[in-house]
Amino acid sequence: MIPTPAPDSALDLLLNRRSCHSVRAPGPDDAELALILRAALRVPDFQRLRPYRFLAARDEGLDRLGQAMQRAAVAAGRSEAEIARTPRMPHRAPLVITVVASPRPSKVVPLFDQQLCAASTVLAMQLAARALGYGGLWRSGWLMYDRGFHRELGLGENEQIVGFLYLGTPQHAEETTNEAVPDPYDFLRWI
Ligand SMILES: Cc1cc2nc3c(=O)[nH]c(=O)nc-3n(C[C@H](O)[C@H](O)[C@H](O)COP(=O)(O)O)c2cc1C
Repeated sequence: MIPTPAPDSALDLLLNRRSCHSVRAPGPDDAELALILRAALRVPDFQRLRPYRFLAARDEGLDRLGQAMQRAAVAAGRSEAEIARTPRMPHRAPLVITVVASPRPSKVVPLFDQQLCAASTVLAMQLAARALGYGGLWRSGWLMYDRGFHRELGLGENEQIVGFLYLGTPQHAEETTNEAVPDPYDFLRWI
């Protein structure tokens, strides 16, 4: 018999976390953002390299991010429809955090470990935001890999975006899902 987690416990948050596709203002304020970032800074991190950085956009920053996306879309020869769409893309949330894996020189910690560490911060921040009452969505898309867009944001050649975290107030009450929960043991083999 699998125990049921206590309401609002950490386990409840982990077992019932849902992404939120549709958010509106307000987003996290500065004090809340500090907590969200502290959750990011607590992810497992081999040798405490902190191989990440965060580019946050709100208000006019969302316009600047959208313009950078549009310039990248033009440079990459994307379709007219896509070029027209890009400036509004960040406006799907009041706060957009671009999470950058920023590997540090290390003879011990491989690049992939450092990228995994950076990616872990996305989930940690999404969970922290959820605990504060906000909804969030981890997005990717072609821009995540586009070197032209990376240059627009001032990323170095060794850096890689690992996600765009869209955060805000949920538009709708959290959906309860009818989705059958798979048997977790289907994903496990004992060695
Ligand atoms: C690396 C990564 C990239 C993702 N990119 C997108 C994306 O671009 N667009 C999208 O709708 N969902 C994307 N998702 C999935 C959503 O974040 C979300 O997990 C999915 O909609 C399922 O919702 P749930 O988290 O409530 O199960 C991505 C997830 C990951 C881990």
